[in-house]
Amino acid sequence: MARSKSKRKTKSARKTGQAARGRAPATQDAIALLKADHRQVEAWFEEFESTRSDRRKLDLARNICQALKVHTSIEEEIFYPAFLEATGDKEIHHEAEVEHDGAKKLIAQIQASSPDDDYFDAKVTVLSEMIKHHVKEEEKRGGMFSEAREAGMDLQVLGEQLKERKQELMSETPQRGGRPVPRRPGRSPAQYFRM
Ligand SMILES: [Fe+2]
Ligand SMILES: [Fe+2]
Repeated sequence: MARSKSKRKTKSARKTGQAARGRAPATQDAIALLKADHRQVEAWFEEFESTRSDRRKLDLARNICQALKVHTSIEEEIFYPAFLEATGDKEIHHEAEVEHDGAKKLIAQIQASSPDDDYFDAKVTVLSEMIKHHVKEEEKRGGMFSEAREAGMDLQVLGEQLKERKQELMSETPQRGGRPVPRRPGRSPAQYFRM
């Protein structure tokens, strides 16, 4: 198989080439995996809005924060650099990173907080709005994901890399003090944390 595309010169890109030659296709390509993360977090935000239980809110907020930390990390470590290399689109790339930085600051505040804090709900609501905007930017027509597809990025191999890194990060950051919150029937809690 041709080594192809001069854009593949980084360490991760070399790994990409190896994986492309030696492994079966991932079940989820990179965009499907990232979108599944988006849907999961949206479901938790939705549930946060509707529940009145402080215990539930705390569990949901913890799950949201952990999932977003892992999600933003795998995007920044793997998907975003590959996107920048493939497309050269600094504007989309840099804006996405700046939005991540803003979200991470709020995530840190929420993680240091609890429903006893008068501002807890407001912080989670504002994080939800920030993430909604960010996800729209990634998923909209002409946004990062559609541009990535158009640029012919190897989304299957990137999907494998994202999945592997996600598993590593999940095992490094076990949830603290709360059970996972399964949203849909038929999915075990473990599926939310180990893909
Ligand atoms: Fe994302
Ligand atoms: Fe993102």
